[in-house]
Amino acid sequence: MKKILVATEKPFAKEAIAAIRKVVEDAGYTLALLEKYTSKTELCNSIADADALIIRSDIVDKEVVEAAKNLKIVVRAGAGYDNIDLEACTKHGIVAMNTPGQNSNAVAELAFGMMLYMARGGFDGGTGTELRGKTLGIHGYGNVGRYIGKIALGFGMKTYAFRRTSMDEIIKAEGIIPLSKAEDIYKNCQYVTLHIPANEQTKKSINYDLLSLMPKGATLVNTARKEIIDEESLLKMFAERPDFKYLSDIEPACKAEIIEKYSKRYFFTPKKMGAQTLEANNNAGIAAAQQIIDFFEKGDVRFKVN
Ligand code: 3PG
Repeated sequence: MKKILVATEKPFAKEAIAAIRKVVEDAGYTLALLEKYTSKTELCNSIADADALIIRSDIVDKEVVEAAKNLKIVVRAGAGYDNIDLEACTKHGIVAMNTPGQNSNAVAELAFGMMLYMARGGFDGGTGTELRGKTLGIHGYGNVGRYIGKIALGFGMKTYAFRRTSMDEIIKAEGIIPLSKAEDIYKNCQYVTLHIPANEQTKKSINYDLLSLMPKGATLVNTARKEIIDEESLLKMFAERPDFKYLSDIEPACKAEIIEKYSKRYFFTPKKMGAQTLEANNNAGIAAAQQIIDFFEKGDVRFKVN
């Protein structure tokens, strides 16, 4: 009987695990769980006899891949797969997949939660501002970006989007103004929200050249990855622009300096929270389990990323 291991340092909700278990056991497979583990050794030991692996932001590097003697498939229950060594997987004949779109609404809602929190001064009893009538730039119009667009229009924000591979007609039809250069997003928007993956092209790409273009009242929202931010530029913006604020679902490496010097101008979640909803756990977890079963039963590799 094939064994599917769910290895999550940050576990899925209990209800989502029950739903994943049902999908797995109904198909005649067994489910193993490794939750809240604290060392790579624990992961390497648990994965030794697994045929398939479901992870979240858990690191699957060369060492983990080499410890996984039976592994045929790893599915990242989520969007970003920068935590998987794709080359090592390919070398060992392991298929890597993600579950695009399954947790996107949860991430988009968190971005607005953080924007509202900051616009209202952290709910400190003082006078805040509103989102209506403000300009919002969506940097990366993929699954999350599209949900952001829908919510932004509901808030009455003037909303722009930039996407590396143009989809201008679709963006326009969705009520959003497409822009052809990333720079234009920063020039036009008081709020910029990031929805791009972390890869060799994007790491440290959000830099001073872009951020300094932002108009007064600049707020950068990052529910993507901390690696895409050039932190030297971030600190420079904090130092030069008293209006600049940074909201992030991932604590930056330079958080100590920001916390010490720039009170009321930042918000960081203690742990990545974007996909931490019951709905997103269910959607991504069930999709991952189903993709594994479809891979073994039908050879379906639709969501393969390597
Ligand atoms: C993703 O890439 O899907 C999100 O960043 C969610 O990550 P998580 O599953 O670790 O919460």
